Amino acid sequence: MTENFTIVDHPLVQHKLTLMRRKDTPTAVFRQLLREISTLLAYEVMRDLSLTEREIETPLATMKAPVLAGKKLCLVSILRAGNGLLEGMLDLVPSARVGHIGLYRDPETLRPVEYYFKVPHGIEGRMVIAVDPMLATGNSSAAAIDRLKKAGANQIRLVCLLAAPEGVANFQEVHPDVPIFTASLDSHLNERGYIVPGLGDAGDRMYGTK
Ligand code: URA
Repeated sequence: MTENFTIVDHPLVQHKLTLMRRKDTPTAVFRQLLREISTLLAYEVMRDLSLTEREIETPLATMKAPVLAGKKLCLVSILRAGNGLLEGMLDLVPSARVGHIGLYRDPETLRPVEYYFKVPHGIEGRMVIAVDPMLATGNSSAAAIDRLKKAGANQIRLVCLLAAPEGVANFQEVHPDVPIFTASLDSHLNERGYIVPGLGDAGDRMYGTK
């Protein structure tokens, strides 16, 4: 599980995650912390973006200075909880393009069913960073990545806040080429598919829907 799997162990990330896990953390604070952590996760997932040089003029001299190379990257939110990771990442890369993928779990088959898909044009030439706070069973993230690959994406990374070992194994079986970045690898999934110790339902905690 060490290949293509990064735990962002920065002390600020770990501290903020602990605050988010606490069951008495209010909705507004939870959302704010998620925004802050997502900026820090974005910093790590984008650490090796390619640079090129451009000539600029400072007040003192002309120089060749580094700028990001290639097409604007694309952030893809896996709805609905993915939206919580989006805002903090956009704070860091405001000109990123943004896609959305909506999936729900069929109550009979428990398989993910797509209800929405919209991504920017030219996705095949962009780095695509898919975001979903909870990598639990891994089914919906894997289905979202399948869909992105079918749409032409060929440089994909997945960012989640928490991961369960079961979800990582499932995901990596289908998409070994997609690096995962997370703030924590938790203990296990319970019988209802929740990450333990986890933080509960990320969407509900973010939007106060429970
Ligand atoms: N989704 C959540 O929001 N929380 C979990 O623990 C698992 C899946």
